[in-house]
Amino acid sequence: MKLITALFLLCATGSALANPFPTGNAQTGKALFDKYNCNSCHAAMLGGDGNTMFTREARKVRSPADLVEQLKLCSGNIGAKLTAQDEQHIAAYLNRYYKLK
Ligand code: HEC
Repeated sequence: MKLITALFLLCATGSALANPFPTGNAQTGKALFDKYNCNSCHAAMLGGDGNTMFTREARKVRSPADLVEQLKLCSGNIGAKLTAQDEQHIAAYLNRYYKLK
């Protein structure tokens, strides 16, 4: 029984550590993503809803830091003033595509 508890705790800690955006809320991120029309350019470039930007073979983002950096670039281009917290929310949302750890 002790072993099971220990294993459970280990797994719980493991998955908490595996989330690179623990302070981000994916639902809030999605709302921000829609509010700023983030996929407008991506869709114009790639067609569809634009989400293939995040799943295409040659995608650029490889790490949590890459993701934050790129979304800063993109939001800067459209003059969206995102707070650091907003960035975490959007990153948490986009990580449904990237599955970064
Ligand atoms: C003005 C057009 C434009 C808007 C608006 C825009 N993006 Fe982008 N985005 C781009 C372009 C162009 C690229 C591709 C960059 C490249 O391949 O070098 C890109 C790429 C990305 C990527 C990286 C995809 C990869 O290759 O892994 C992310 C993440 C991203 N955008 C997030 C956002 C978010 C979040 C917003 C809204 C705040 C947003 N973008 C709004 C033009 C835009």
